Amino acid sequence: MSDNIKIGFIGAGGNARGHMQRVNAVDGANIAAICDLDAARAEETAKEYGATPYTDFRDLLDHEPLDAVYISIPPNAHGEVEVLSARKGLHLFIEKPVALDRQTIDRVPPEIEKAGIITCVGYQLRYWPTALAARDFLSGKTVGMVQARYWGGTPMNPWWRVMGVSGGQIVEQATHGVDMVRFLVGDINTVYARYARRGMGDLENLDIPDVYSLAVEFANGAVGTISSTCLLNTGGGSGGSDIDIILRDCLLHWNAAGAQIVPEGTGTLNTCPYGETTIDAVFVDAVKAGNGSAILSDYFDGVKSALVGIAANESARSGAPVRL
Ligand SMILES: NC(=O)c1ccc[n+]([C@@H]2O[C@H](COP(=O)([O-])OP(=O)(O)OC[C@H]3O[C@@H](n4cnc5c(N)ncnc54)[C@H](O)[C@@H]3O)[C@@H](O)[C@H]2O)c1
Repeated sequence: MSDNIKIGFIGAGGNARGHMQRVNAVDGANIAAICDLDAARAEETAKEYGATPYTDFRDLLDHEPLDAVYISIPPNAHGEVEVLSARKGLHLFIEKPVALDRQTIDRVPPEIEKAGIITCVGYQLRYWPTALAARDFLSGKTVGMVQARYWGGTPMNPWWRVMGVSGGQIVEQATHGVDMVRFLVGDINTVYARYARRGMGDLENLDIPDVYSLAVEFANGAVGTISSTCLLNTGGGSGGSDIDIILRDCLLHWNAAGAQIVPEGTGTLNTCPYGETTIDAVFVDAVKAGNGSAILSDYFDGVKSALVGIAANESARSGAPVRL
């Protein structure tokens, strides 16, 4: 167990900056090195935290004596970064989705297993008291059906609208809803997907669909639907993941925006979305203690959520259901 740890960042974009602030607030966590392909971005953030800037993650891994790295880069950039970091024995915080293709998913897990490192994937909704209360409520109960939706606007990152870079909205963004459904109900074993582009085709360089509809079956026999859209740029969306879970005589509604769980007839379980503990504090404390047991989504679990998105894309292409 070490009270002081050194952390590196690979990717210093909007999401990484949020993690940097939260990591910096944890006792004993020192941000020692920051890498971004954009040199100005690397230098600016490194200056803010008194860290060393890099533009090539290989240099960062070769020159910095780190305990852990955060990997917060576009989905298509995963693979080599995780493999080389794991070979250095660094604990990994990896942003979702862990991959957008099966090759990366085949390649990375054996390296992580061999390295025996702690991993944490950025599915932070799992740590919210509402999610934990809903999971407790559902424990031992029979779920009949699930309806989840992730309805919103189009994020402005230029890479997000390119299928070969982001994987599209189910893989990249609605993966939060997919993961929360898995966390609450269990693993998904079959996906049938239909996608279309109905309204955002005029946006420059956009080649992703803008409406997505999935029928899914869970390993425990429940069935469900998951839908996603980035058409609602001027409002009217769900503000993130919105999930209805139907049991006998009971509807459990979980909403990341309103963050309220109300099983009909039994009252409100928990109305507080944010807890005191951030996913970053959980990860840093796990690294300090050398014990990852408090982490709710490690790399291997993150792979299962990523695979639902990858299978959905395959099904949308082929027109046939895909078994996971
Ligand atoms: N958990 C969440 O709620 C959440 C929220 C937003 C974004 N994210 C995830 O975070 C990741 C980054 O998203 P973002 O919004 O910060 O995007 P962004 O475009 O703002 O930042 C990505 C950065 O990665 C850099 N980069 C790309 N390849 C690199 C490489 N090989 N080495 C070093 N730097 C590299 C880019 O130059 C860019 O600065 C995505 O996977 C996204 O899904 C997660």
